[in-house]
Amino acid sequence: MKHLLKLSDLTPEEITEILNLADQLKYDKKNGIEHKYLKDKTLGMIFRKASTRTRVSFEVGMYQLGGNALFLSSNDLQIGRGEETADTVRVLSRYLDGIMIRTFEQSEVEVMAAAGSIPIINGLTDYAHPCQVLADLMTIREYKGTLQGLKLCFIGDGNNMANSLIVGGIKMGMAVSVACPKSYQPDADIMKWASENGDFVCTDDIASAARDADVLYTDVWASMGQESEGNARREAFINYCIDDKVMGMAKSDAIVLHCLPAHKGEEITKDVFDAHADEIFDEAENRLHAQKAVLVKLLG
Ligand code: CP
Ligand code: NVA
Repeated sequence: MKHLLKLSDLTPEEITEILNLADQLKYDKKNGIEHKYLKDKTLGMIFRKASTRTRVSFEVGMYQLGGNALFLSSNDLQIGRGEETADTVRVLSRYLDGIMIRTFEQSEVEVMAAAGSIPIINGLTDYAHPCQVLADLMTIREYKGTLQGLKLCFIGDGNNMANSLIVGGIKMGMAVSVACPKSYQPDADIMKWASENGDFVCTDDIASAARDADVLYTDVWASMGQESEGNARREAFINYCIDDKVMGMAKSDAIVLHCLPAHKGEEITKDVFDAHADEIFDEAENRLHAQKAVLVKLLG
C-alpha cells in the first residue's frame, strides 16, 4: 500500500490490518502508551474545501505519533492561482513525508500520486471519502463485533460517502443497500462492481432498503460544492430521512452512523440523532485512530 486514494485500491486483508492497528492504537492511547512511530515526519494537508474532523484529526494524529502537520489552504497556495497540481506535488515531495488532500476531482489525487514521490491520502473528493469509511468500519466492528454478514443501509444522496461505503462494505463481506431517488444514484461503475462481487441493491424504496438493517447510515442532501442545488435537492430528498418509522424497519438493535456535519430535520431527525449520538460521536472519534493507523502504514 503506497497511497490511500480510494478503497477499491485496497484488499480486504489490507483494510483488516488498518482496522486492527487502529484498535490497538486507540487502546494504547487510552492506557497511556505512546507510539512515536512518525518522529520528525511531516504531513502536508491541502484543503480546497472546508473541514472540521479531517483537519483536526489528521493534525492531532501526526502530533500524537511524534510528527508534525502543516495546514495548507488552497487559498494561500499557488495552486489556488493556477500552478499545476503536478508541479506542486513535485515540489512538496522534496519537503514533506506525505500529503493529505481534500479536493473536488478524484483525478487530482490520482495526478498527485502519479507525479509525486511521497504517499498521498484522499481526505475527501466528490467521488470518495476512504478515511471516513475506515473509521465507520472500525465503529461498526466495535459495536457489532464483526462486519461479515451484517446489513448496511445507506439512505440519501448517492455521493462520495455512498460510493465509499458500498466499496468498503462489500469488500468486508457486508450486505449493502442504498435507498436514493433515481436521479441521485451512486457511481455506476461502483454499483456494477458491487453487484458482481457481493450482496448489493440500490432502490428508491426506503422500506426495502432498511428492512432488517444492522447499520443505518445517512449524509447531507447537498455536499460541499453543491450549495446552489440546495432547493432542488431538498425537494428530491424530502422522504429520504432516517426517522422513527425507518428505525422501525431496521433490526431492533440497529446502530445509526453519520459522517457529519449533520442537517437535523433533513436527512435525520433530531430524535434519532440524539438517541444514537453515542455511536455517531464514537464514529467521529475513530477518525483519529483509523487515520493514525493509515499514517503509520504509509509514512512509518
Ligand atoms: N466527516 C468529515 O469528513 O468531516 P469534516 O468535513 O469536518 O472533515
Ligand atoms: N458528502 C459530504 C461529506 C462531508 C464529510 C460532502 O462531500 O460534503
